[in-house]
Amino acid sequence: MKIKKTYSFAFWTSLILTFTSFVTFYLGSYIFLNIWLPFISALIFICVVYTFSFFIIQFRVEKFIYLRIKNIYENVSLLDASDLNKTAVSADLDMLSLEVQKFAENKQQQIQNLNLREGYRREFLGNISHELKTPLFTVQGYLLTLEDGAMNDKRIGKKYLKRANKGVDRLISIVKDLDLISKLESNDLNLNKQTFNIVELVQEVFDLLEIEAKKRNVTLLLDKHYEYPIKVIGDVERIEQVLTNLIVNSIKYGKINGATIVSLEIAENNKVLVKVKDNGEGIKEEHLDRLFERFYRVDQSRSRDQGGSGLGLSIVKHIIEAHNEQIFVKSKIERGSEFSFTLEKFKQV
Ligand SMILES: Nc1ncnc2c1ncn2[C@@H]1O[C@H](COP(=O)(O)OP(=O)(O)O)[C@@H](O)[C@H]1O
Ligand SMILES: [Mg+2]
Repeated sequence: MKIKKTYSFAFWTSLILTFTSFVTFYLGSYIFLNIWLPFISALIFICVVYTFSFFIIQFRVEKFIYLRIKNIYENVSLLDASDLNKTAVSADLDMLSLEVQKFAENKQQQIQNLNLREGYRREFLGNISHELKTPLFTVQGYLLTLEDGAMNDKRIGKKYLKRANKGVDRLISIVKDLDLISKLESNDLNLNKQTFNIVELVQEVFDLLEIEAKKRNVTLLLDKHYEYPIKVIGDVERIEQVLTNLIVNSIKYGKINGATIVSLEIAENNKVLVKVKDNGEGIKEEHLDRLFERFYRVDQSRSRDQGGSGLGLSIVKHIIEAHNEQIFVKSKIERGSEFSFTLEKFKQV
C-alpha cells in the first residue's frame, strides 16, 4: 500500500522530535544529575515519545489541513463544501490537488463557454440592429420625400406611401421572427400537438405561396398523387411555418422557371420524412454546418434583396427540435438543395 503523504510527514517529524528530545534528555540527565540512564528506560523513553508525537502530529496535521481546506471551500461560494470528502482530503494530498485541478479545469471550461456565448450575444445584437436599419432607412427615406413635397402629387404620394408601408411590413416580419426565435430559445413555446393530414397541409402551403412562386415562375409540386391521407402528430401551425420557410427558400434560391418538389415518405420507426427539393443554385458544402445558425447566410446581399431575415432556417430547426424530430440538408452547388425533416406518424388503432 502506498504510504500516505501525511503519514510520512508525521513519521519523519516524530523521528526528529524523538531524536532531539532523547539527546537533550539523555545528555541533560548526565550533565545535571550526573547519571547515565539505563538502556531500558532510554528505550521506553524513545517508544513513548515517538508514539505520542506520531499520533499527535498525525491528528493535528489532518485536522489543520481539513479545516483550512474547508474554509476555502466555504469562503469561495463557487465551491460546494459538501463536495469535500473528509477522508479523501486529509488522507491524501495528491487526491486533493487532483480535485482542485479538476475543479479549475471545469471552471476554465465554463468561463470559455460564457465568453463564447457572450460573443454570440454581441454578434446577435449587431445583426439585429443591422437587419432593422435597412428597412427603417427605406421607410424614413420615403416619408422624408413625401414631406418634402411628393405628397402634393397624389399619384406619386400614393406610390411612396405604398413603398413605405412595404418597409414597415418587412420590419414587422423581422420583429415577428425575432419574437418567435426568442420564445423558441427560452422554451416558452408550448406546442399544441394534434393529428393532421400532412398531404393536405402541403397543398395548403402551396396555395398560399402560389403568388410568390409565380413571381419567379417556380412550379410547386408534390412528387406524386397521394391517394390516401398521411396522418402525422405535431403542432400544425408550427409545421406549416416550417414548410412555408423551406418552400419560400426553395422559391427564392431556386432557379427562375424551376420547380420545387415536396415528397412524403413513410420511414422506419413510425416516422414520416418530408422532403423539400429544389433545382436552384445549391449551397457549397462548407456552409452546410452553419446554415441553421441565426442570421447565417451564404450570400448576404442577395439574400437580403430577396427579403429574408436570415432567421428562417434557425426557426425551422428550433421547431423541429421542439418536436424531438430531426432536420437534414443535402445540397450540390448549381444542382439544387434538399431539406428534409421527420415527423411522428399517427398510429391507426
Ligand atoms: N433552398 C436553398 N437553396 C440555396 N440556398 C439556400 C436555400 N435555403 C436556404 N439557403 C441559404 O441559407 C441561408 C439562410 O436561410 P434562411 O435562414 O431561411 O434565411 P433567409 O432566407 O432569410 O436568407 C439563405 O440566406 C441562403 O443563402
Ligand atoms: Mg428563409
